[in-house]
Amino acid sequence: TTSKVVVTRNLIDEAQQLLEADNSLEIVQWKSDQPCDRSWLLENVKGASGILLMLSDKCDDELLQAAGEQLKVVASFSVGTDHVDREALKKRNIRLGYTPTCLTDAVADLSVMLILMAQRRGGEAMGKVAMGEWSSMPWHPLLMVGPQIRGATVGFLGFGRIAQATLKRLIPFGISRALYLTSRAGQPAKDDHYGLLKEPSVPTEPAKSWEELASESDVVIVGCSLSPSTKHLVNADFFAKMKKLAVLVNIARGPVVDTNALVEALEKEEIFGAGLDVIENEPNIPADHPILKQPRCVLLPHIGSATIDTRVDMATESARNLLAGLRGEAMVNEVEL
Ligand code: GLV
Ligand code: GLV
Repeated sequence: TTSKVVVTRNLIDEAQQLLEADNSLEIVQWKSDQPCDRSWLLENVKGASGILLMLSDKCDDELLQAAGEQLKVVASFSVGTDHVDREALKKRNIRLGYTPTCLTDAVADLSVMLILMAQRRGGEAMGKVAMGEWSSMPWHPLLMVGPQIRGATVGFLGFGRIAQATLKRLIPFGISRALYLTSRAGQPAKDDHYGLLKEPSVPTEPAKSWEELASESDVVIVGCSLSPSTKHLVNADFFAKMKKLAVLVNIARGPVVDTNALVEALEKEEIFGAGLDVIENEPNIPADHPILKQPRCVLLPHIGSATIDTRVDMATESARNLLAGLRGEAMVNEVEL
């Protein structure tokens, strides 16, 4: 008997081969690098036992309904699962695979890049050079100065793998202290992924409140997952508490930060700058979007995990999770629903 699986994007060869090596699979695939058409998906998912999808594909009740009762597994090519209705999966006993470990280093690297870009005004400086403005701004002592990372207090909203891997990278820069907020304010982090908490080489402690984290941090890093309780966690009140020389970095999900409030905070110089890999309503950011008018904001198109190695790992891991779900075996990483 064959099982139908639906794959919502072109896959890297290694992952494609893993799926194609299983002769019992009928692979129905959206063969494109563009997001999968929703109506195509709803139509083609009918009768599928497994779905391999991207973070841009909403996995909700409607999709599961369209698939039918035989659906066993959803494998998401992502660490975040906010696009997936977990309750709907749980209700139907459908397993959910994801890729939470293989992208940690790549995203932590990018968050360091964004901190430095925001503090050292990388985007603004490149923009001026690209516009031919260098000759009108020769070297001078205060040209493009910004805050320095040495001595910084770094505040983490969310303190999972990526946040802890970022902290690990920041310690050699000479930061002085780390504060973090887990979903339960004032609670110690659940896991100590790198031994940073058992033997901290910089003082590392839970913040008592978001107010404390906002007002004491020189760098705030958003690394939490998106949920109703984290939506707009960074809002006008948060910015009002931040230091004028602080920078905000978001490598998690756009809606954790209220974009309008961020634009206003940058305009009013309530904070020094921002480095974003994600934003509300991505990828629909037209050229006249107000965030693009902010010279102190670096905005990247959600490329946190975009290293060649990591994308190969994410692809093969998603394929393995899909196969494990179909075969009733252990996944590489499965979400506890
Ligand atoms: C990227 O944002 C992911 O969730 O993998
Ligand atoms: C700036 O980079 C300098 O040369 O001081």
